[in-house]
Amino acid sequence: MIYQNDGIENGMSRQDMCILPEARPEAVSRDTIEALLAKMTLQEKIGQLQQLDASGDPLAEDFLQAVRAGKVGSIINQVDPETSNTLQRVAVEESRLGIPLISARDVIHGFRTVFPIPLGQAASWNPGLVEQAARISALEARRNGVHWTFAPMVDISRDPRWGRIAESFGEDPYLSGCLGASMVRGFQTSDLQNHGAIAACAKHFAGYGASESGRDYNSTNIPDNELRNVYLPPFRAAAEAGAATFMCSFGDLDGIPATANDYLIRQILRGEWEFDGLVVSDWNSVKELVVHGLCEDARAAAKAAASAGVDIEMAGDAYQAHLESLVVSGQISIETIDGMVLNVLRLKERLGLFEKPYTAADEYPPLLSEAAKELAKDLATQSLVLLKNEDRTLPLKPAELSSIAVIGPLADAAQDQLGTWVFDGHADDSVTPLAAIRQRFGETLPVRYACGLPYSRSRDQGGFDEAVAVAAASDVALVFLGEESILSGEAHCRADLSLPGAQAELLEQIRKTGTRTIVIVMAGRPLVLTDTLKHMDALVYAWHPGTFAGPAIADLLFGDADPFGKLPVTFPKAVGQIPVYYNHKKTGRPPEGSEITLIDEIPVGAQQTSLGMSAFHLDQGFEPLFPFGFGLTYSEFTQSDLQLTANRIEMAGKLGLSCKLTNIGQRRASELVQLYIRDVAGSLTRPVRELKSFKRVSLEPGASEVIRFELTQADLAFSRRDKTFGAEPGKFEVWVGTSSVGGMTATFELLG
Ligand code: BGC
Repeated sequence: MIYQNDGIENGMSRQDMCILPEARPEAVSRDTIEALLAKMTLQEKIGQLQQLDASGDPLAEDFLQAVRAGKVGSIINQVDPETSNTLQRVAVEESRLGIPLISARDVIHGFRTVFPIPLGQAASWNPGLVEQAARISALEARRNGVHWTFAPMVDISRDPRWGRIAESFGEDPYLSGCLGASMVRGFQTSDLQNHGAIAACAKHFAGYGASESGRDYNSTNIPDNELRNVYLPPFRAAAEAGAATFMCSFGDLDGIPATANDYLIRQILRGEWEFDGLVVSDWNSVKELVVHGLCEDARAAAKAAASAGVDIEMAGDAYQAHLESLVVSGQISIETIDGMVLNVLRLKERLGLFEKPYTAADEYPPLLSEAAKELAKDLATQSLVLLKNEDRTLPLKPAELSSIAVIGPLADAAQDQLGTWVFDGHADDSVTPLAAIRQRFGETLPVRYACGLPYSRSRDQGGFDEAVAVAAASDVALVFLGEESILSGEAHCRADLSLPGAQAELLEQIRKTGTRTIVIVMAGRPLVLTDTLKHMDALVYAWHPGTFAGPAIADLLFGDADPFGKLPVTFPKAVGQIPVYYNHKKTGRPPEGSEITLIDEIPVGAQQTSLGMSAFHLDQGFEPLFPFGFGLTYSEFTQSDLQLTANRIEMAGKLGLSCKLTNIGQRRASELVQLYIRDVAGSLTRPVRELKSFKRVSLEPGASEVIRFELTQADLAFSRRDKTFGAEPGKFEVWVGTSSVGGMTATFELLG
């Protein structure tokens, strides 16, 4: 896959944060790893396959003894550098073979410096910044003794009810693959032995995002066509970017839990993709094979997972308890175990742990360094999506204001703005919007604050009067609504996606004051804002932006920064529309162009009719509230002159496309130009549109630029009816636009 946008073209690369790699220490050779394997007892081999939770008291004697006895290959959830070094010393100096431990941690969107949640990072559509954020996260984590993160999560997420959509890059295979690959490169650098590199883990393999009804851990049933064309491509991109490890999903896919799914792990990942890295289970997911009803007991579960190709068991003890007897009884071959152990040893080798097992915090930049803060603010700024801007309410001009009201439960919520998965972030580091706005104006402009509701779910309207009074007395009301961080993330799914608690009522009351109302939503998912949208002049979708939410949002509101963000996921009008995503199939009866009669237009007593029989809901039509790829700017752009270098291309040929973008507004601004295709007729039905590339362009008012794209057969390829991968000759439509709707269009033909 080719990703044309590296995000660095806008001068965003940061030499200052790139710590030059140390000279690579003499690597342990492959022979040494195999020689080491030859010396290992079966118990020591099985020990390497065990990952233990070290969040309790890892310095307790029983834990140390397990390490000393070679019964632990890796640990999870220990981030104190001294404790890590102590454990490592026991492994290296006191265990028989001195094999170092690998220490793992969920560094999902930052370590101490918290960047936007991955869904917010995806809204930046900026692979370069995402890579840099991962690099900073890796440096901070490695400083504290962490060698391995369980990120990126590249699960395609089409269901905002699913709490883990927050951890994803959204609904699109291309964008998710592009950003997943960037994150892998950021964590790992070009070589895992480089200073401050950590191993990445593409998860959750595979199909986890399709959990039925958006309920976490629920079953998934994904036909092979969709699995291979929608859910797997981002994993493939992560593997191609060099992801050292993969984690399997908790879910069952078509009746086979991912932890025992040899089709996924052995056939596709290791066979077809030739992945030679390490596969880890999810937390206790080996033993959960019993709960799933696939295996009768933990022994059968250990056998099923090991046979499917799961190398390390995270947190559970089925491998420790049963692999030995499975080998002795001939139910698992020693070759299988050796293969698993080699994958673990090879990762340790790649990470340079044999030469340099300990961490030395003073070799790293401090946590929350100036470069990290600057980057966190930039990425937060670029993740903000402007969804409504009536009468150009934004940007605000401070000179025209005499007072500002800051209202809402998310205006000063230091922990909540960090989002889900922030084990190592500190709320004390957060700069909230209230703090940033106060700091910005000091004594020069009165900033009045009333939270209105103490937290997002609250129904206590006791604070409404104060909030309304504050709004009424101000020129503009900045209303910070949304979800607390605990309402999204793992196991935090919702069936109702409206603003929680009495927030909608609070907004209505504020709006009635007549004061201009700007809503900033912080949330871990797309919320359904259909009814609330009319109660605001402008809407900024901020996701959970991380440590520097405040300065990022303030810069955007007051015009020091321009809106960059574009939606990485479709916003539904109603929960009942879900799943609603842009790259759906056309069906035999697409609603566009057909006559649609909505529920209130149906005459009472009407008889059944075939008029308007197309794929829509009587009450919501078929369009979402906001489409994938959408986001406004503070300026206005037009596109013209779509040109193709040919209207027919050979299979091995290239198609050049160009189009002119002009800033016809009054401000310098940037726009994200997106390229979509449609394969008009395939051996399998193809999506109505598929994103294939994107480019960001910044233009002065009145300026134009010609944007060029290129398509090759690789961009047109898919997993076909006969299961082979490739492009099919025939007609294609192409769009160049600023969202997944509309744009300039043309057709071309791919010759066989
Ligand atoms: C999650 C994984 C995570 C693991 C370790 C599990 O519950 O599904 O994504 O990496 O815990 O914390």
